[in-house]
Amino acid sequence: MSTAISPTAYNYKVVRQFAIMTVVWGILGMGLGVFIASQLVWPELNFGLPWTTFGRLRPLHTNLVIFAFGGCALFATSYYVVQRTCQTRLISDGLAAFTFWGWQAVIVGAGITLPLGYTTTKEYAELEWPIAILLAIVWVTYAVVFFGTITKRKTKHIYVGNWFYGAFILVTAMLHIVNHASLPVSLFKSYSAYAGATDAMIQWWYGHNAVGFFLTTGFLGMMYYFVPKQAERPIYSYRLSIVHFWALITLYIWAGPHHLHYTALPDWAQSLGMAMSIILLAPSWGGMINGMMTLSGAWHKLRTDPILRFLVVSLAFYGMSTFEGPMMAIKTVNSLSHYTDWTIGHVHAGALGWVAMISIGALYHMIPKIFGRAQMHSVGLINTHFWLATIGTVLYIASMWVNGITQGLMWRAINDDGTLTYSFVEALQASHPGYIVRALGGAFFATGMLFMAYNVWRTVRASDPAEAEAAAKIVVVGAH
Ligand code: HEM
Ligand code: HEM
Repeated sequence: MSTAISPTAYNYKVVRQFAIMTVVWGILGMGLGVFIASQLVWPELNFGLPWTTFGRLRPLHTNLVIFAFGGCALFATSYYVVQRTCQTRLISDGLAAFTFWGWQAVIVGAGITLPLGYTTTKEYAELEWPIAILLAIVWVTYAVVFFGTITKRKTKHIYVGNWFYGAFILVTAMLHIVNHASLPVSLFKSYSAYAGATDAMIQWWYGHNAVGFFLTTGFLGMMYYFVPKQAERPIYSYRLSIVHFWALITLYIWAGPHHLHYTALPDWAQSLGMAMSIILLAPSWGGMINGMMTLSGAWHKLRTDPILRFLVVSLAFYGMSTFEGPMMAIKTVNSLSHYTDWTIGHVHAGALGWVAMISIGALYHMIPKIFGRAQMHSVGLINTHFWLATIGTVLYIASMWVNGITQGLMWRAINDDGTLTYSFVEALQASHPGYIVRALGGAFFATGMLFMAYNVWRTVRASDPAEAEAAAKIVVVGAH
């Protein structure tokens, strides 16, 4: 097979911008996570000011880590992967630049409005209507850039990673637009177009699929490109990846009612959500196994390659959280876990262990390439980061399991005469040690991000513009 260098180059500028902002927002979002975790240990840290209370900073944390950190990681990697696997430049530099600046504007909007108390009150969809509209415009533009690039591909097939990215982009647009339908009454206040149990169902159809398509499907797109690349092995089974794709996107969309067990939602809808969640274990594990097995014959690389370790451990946490999730969706289990820290532990097993770890691994692979360097400034620092992140995640989720089960059991304990054995405050006191451990685990994870920032800064500083330009040249495999 011959190889020719095409005169055109990939648009790496937008990839670089999003990649750097992933690190910046990661530090801010996780730093804020450590701060709110500390507020739960030392309530004085609320400072008695409305803007700095836990209630206002918590949604800012979730918006920063999910949309700013996770979102920038998805933009950066999807733009990188779609260009490389389609062997063509992004369809429009102008539109791609608009998605970068528009997305940063949405995040800054969140950073200003949420502490001021402007919120729709819908979890993960808190942003008020002017920002939500901007987000929708940016997202539709993203879809145009991504799918437009696919239409001008030089390759015959659409690589499976792009299928996952594509589904994530399309479904996120649908969820956001439907769930945000509302009636504005002033510049920063709107009321949902839905009411009562219907509103709750639409919100959790959105909420669960934000997990399923934003925090899972997009990152699976990342997994399908970066795990084989870093392991230097083809994906274990292309056939399994196709089955995985269709099964996952068909099932996820039905599981939302597991967030509304024992509520006013009709019982059949709750049971349907539970059943679909249990079945969801199969495609989730299919994907995990496909990623893990890609390392067949390359396991020895884990001894020396901390980037691969990030990617493999992220898959292990993905497997773990997608086993835990279906269990928690069983109504009787949920009657113990709901409202407790168990849910918070589950969330962060997915968020830190899976979403953050796979993003960090992908960035360490990609950053030297887009800045024209052979590798990151320091492999030793990547290794330090890996251990801080792994130990941090384990401390976080283990402490939340202990807290969650303690809380669930204490809340439901009753005396012979039917009165409650424990008051709420007693359960809170029992949770205090767990909150200290969680804050410590979070601090480990966030410190790892600081090491990453230093390592990235040194790599970028040593970047040679000519080499970076040469690295962006499109190499068309199979051309004559
Ligand atoms: C240093 C790392 C982090 C720390 C210390 C941290 C800490 C926290 C704390 C204290 C809460 C509030 C828990 C409560 O209300 O009881 C929270 C909620 C949340 N965090 Fe984090 N977080 C971190 C990283 C992340 C990341 C990277 C993500 C996503 C990619 C994430 C996603 C979430 C979500 C979705 C919630 C809401 C959970 C729910 O409502 O059930 N966090 N986090
Ligand atoms: C097969 C896969 C999964 C299933 C069936 C599942 C199921 C569940 C269940 C039953 C809950 C508790 C609902 C409640 O009691 O309120 C939950 C909460 C949650 N899960 Fe999962 N989960 C899965 C995977 C994941 C993954 C991979 C992530 C993150 C990347 C994640 C993020 C979350 C979040 C953020 C919440 C908290 C939502 C909230 O109340 O604010 N889940 N999940």
